[in-house]
Amino acid sequence: MPQTVLIVDDESSIVFSLSEAMRDVGYKVITATNGEEAIREVKESSPDIVLLDLKLPDIDGLKVLKQIKDWDHNTPVIMMSAYVDIPTAVNATKMGAHSFVEKPLNVEKIKMDVQNTIENYDVRKELEQLKEIERFRQKINNPLEQILGNSPAIKKMKKTINKIVESRATTVLIRGESGTGKELVARAIHYAGVRKEKPFIDVNCTSIPDELLESELFGHERGAFTDAKKEKKGLFELSNGGTMFLDEIGDMKMAMQAKLLRVLQEKNFKRVGGTKQINVDVRIVAATNKDLEQAIGEGLFREDLYYRLNVVQVTCPPLRERHDDVLLLTRHFIDEFNRDFKKSVTKIHPDAEKLLLSYSWPGNVRELRNVLERAILLESEDVLLPQDLSISPSHQVTQLPQQTEQVEDVIPAGDELTLDDMEKWLIERTLANCAWNKNLVAKKLGINRTTLYTKIKKYNLERD
Ligand SMILES: Nc1ncnc2c1ncn2[C@@H]1O[C@H](COP(=O)(O)OP(=O)(O)OP(=O)(O)O)[C@@H](O)[C@H]1O
Ligand SMILES: [Mg+2]
Repeated sequence: MPQTVLIVDDESSIVFSLSEAMRDVGYKVITATNGEEAIREVKESSPDIVLLDLKLPDIDGLKVLKQIKDWDHNTPVIMMSAYVDIPTAVNATKMGAHSFVEKPLNVEKIKMDVQNTIENYDVRKELEQLKEIERFRQKINNPLEQILGNSPAIKKMKKTINKIVESRATTVLIRGESGTGKELVARAIHYAGVRKEKPFIDVNCTSIPDELLESELFGHERGAFTDAKKEKKGLFELSNGGTMFLDEIGDMKMAMQAKLLRVLQEKNFKRVGGTKQINVDVRIVAATNKDLEQAIGEGLFREDLYYRLNVVQVTCPPLRERHDDVLLLTRHFIDEFNRDFKKSVTKIHPDAEKLLLSYSWPGNVRELRNVLERAILLESEDVLLPQDLSISPSHQVTQLPQQTEQVEDVIPAGDELTLDDMEKWLIERTLANCAWNKNLVAKKLGINRTTLYTKIKKYNLERD
């Protein structure tokens, strides 16, 4: 759509020559010969720019300017006048006039002025809009804010993530039990950083069959293998400039590991069946819940790849080690599911709270979310009750009849028995009974956490 110029002047020869000039450049022209008409046109046609004479037969040009600006303060207005005294010019500028041109008019110069103003204005408008969208996006979508938690472990994790976000290229290894938020962290790293406009590609190393993974990642040329009827770009090419999230990296086969290592080192690769080197700039964020060190020991994971991936490590702490977060996340998920299911659960019954806190959450945040989804769906009152929580009792760490029996409950005996032996036995037993929930163990033993840690160290009770 051509841009519209409104020309306002009572001298028909000026209107005529300006109209010609503006049509020349491709603008649509509207004209007015007095102030009243001008204001009406502004309201009706929303011109992109106005050329306004200061001296009009009916209303003073400055008053027209004011009315135009009141209507839409973004419309640029160029004032025209035979006698421009400085106070009037200053006044007009204050009221938002874009510029002043003197009569007799230099039509060529006005043409250029109008073009520049419209162009700049367009860019400015676009920039304003982009900024506004960006502000909005950040408000609703600050990726780091989606990682909830106030526990020291989560705070520490967020600090590490912030450092990673600042650096553009570092390879990251995310570790943590199932459901602790590894994928959430990977996305936050991508969307909080400079790569956010580029793709985030999620590759689950276990869900793609081994024989397909190579061509999925690197692409293939036509005829590279029987099914390769057309050339195909691989995920590395598609994620160029962005992030590739290699989930469950611990399950990648050794042969594929070697190929991945090569790309990480060389930053280029060839498609399957191809000869051309393709360069890529992709940040790799890998995640696993496997014990990679053990896998290396067993010859299932390449040590060199491990070191290459493990430039920075983010550890997602298990939920049972952060009691405070359990309730915070519970409230968050209750809100979420209240909205989804149009419920209004506002309170947590003290017994439900106790149950939530005593449970060991083997499936971590994902399990908590699922448990609450079900609970809110079924709840018809405004209180979350313990019986709404479908938590498997075998994982309940405070009242554990079955588990207590499993743990050696016989007090060690013997003549040589020392107080230390007894203490070691008691700590070991309590740790096992509380699924290593150290807060709980410390509470049960009546000692503080630091003392507990010291004793765990002293008796060599660390879990490997
Ligand atoms: N700190 C957190 N704050 C809010 N939601 C979280 C947090 N951690 C995890 N979640 C939510 O819990 C669920 C599981 O998280 P995610 O899929 O990232 O875990 P994961 O570690 O990748 O699990 P898996 O190893 O099973 O793939 C998601 O719905 C996620 O949004
Ligand atoms: Mg995951």
